[in-house]
Amino acid sequence: MEQQLKELQTEALAKAEAAEDLKQLNDIRVAYLGKKGPITEVLKGMGKLSAEERPKMGALANEVRAAVASAIETKQTALEQQAIKKQLEKETIDVTLPGRPVKSGNQHPLTKVVEEIEDLFISMGYSIAEGPEVETDYYNFEALNLPKGHPARDMQDSFYITEDILLRTHTSPVQARTMEKYQGQGPVKIICPGKVYRRDNDDATHSHQFTQIEGLVVDENISMGDLKGTLEVFAKRLFGEDREIRLRPSFFPFTEPSVEVDVTCMCGGEGCRICKHTGWIEILGAGMVHPNVLEMAGFDSKKYTGFAFGMGPDRIAMLKYGIDDIRHFYTNDVRFLTQFAEHE
Ligand code: PHE
Repeated sequence: MEQQLKELQTEALAKAEAAEDLKQLNDIRVAYLGKKGPITEVLKGMGKLSAEERPKMGALANEVRAAVASAIETKQTALEQQAIKKQLEKETIDVTLPGRPVKSGNQHPLTKVVEEIEDLFISMGYSIAEGPEVETDYYNFEALNLPKGHPARDMQDSFYITEDILLRTHTSPVQARTMEKYQGQGPVKIICPGKVYRRDNDDATHSHQFTQIEGLVVDENISMGDLKGTLEVFAKRLFGEDREIRLRPSFFPFTEPSVEVDVTCMCGGEGCRICKHTGWIEILGAGMVHPNVLEMAGFDSKKYTGFAFGMGPDRIAMLKYGIDDIRHFYTNDVRFLTQFAEHE
């Protein structure tokens, strides 16, 4: 029996030592130390032993159990530490690896141009005014000398929501709203940037949604000369000091006289595809604020005069960046947009 117990001990210790993981080790524990294990089995033969031998065998069996238990314990600690070590190795961070770049967005080209124009006019003492995109017929048309049924309304095909409410077709209603706020007291010197909407079939140069920046100056003794000088400074600062502007007579119901303003093309006047071989590019509409518009907004048109202009930043951005399709601004393909990032 002694022999059997010793063999069991050797066997169990070897197995414990060879265990590869905690599960195997636990199986060994159950197999050798469990109630139905081989040690208990061997001890069943105790009845056949003499009275002196029995306690000796009992003590030996306990020693074997203790030895096996302690071997399993030692192995368990070793296996656990091994597992922790493995995990740590797997999770180590190599601080010398280059980081993954975080993708950051960039300003939309239109926003860039709008902000550039805003800064330019702010530097000339203008402030920024904003108004609603969902506008009343009154501010979008009537207050701008375009009564209901006026044929010039056809120039701006509109999205009506009700008979009296529409998506604004230009930023000019902000002029009318702002003038009302000033309650007949000049000077007014504002620019109004914003989105506008017109019923149009979208193509490379037309979009049913686009942006405008309106400018308005109302004060005593404001003349066409002030308008021309202002626009000249604007065009040179935005496009380059070598550029010239010219004014052509035009018509807008809210200005009288009205002009269309061209800037010399980047081809230097030789003629190219962009200027359609004329050397000039149209950039905005402008004029002296119509006395009716001043009066409707509460200004005395005998005391006050003013000029207004309206430009399309979409067109300006297209010229500035050589973009050939206005729809790019609104489809927002990141491959297009990221070309305007200032840093990588
Ligand atoms: N609101 C005009 C348009 O959209 C532009 C404009 C503004 C013309 C101010 C003259 C003065 O066509």
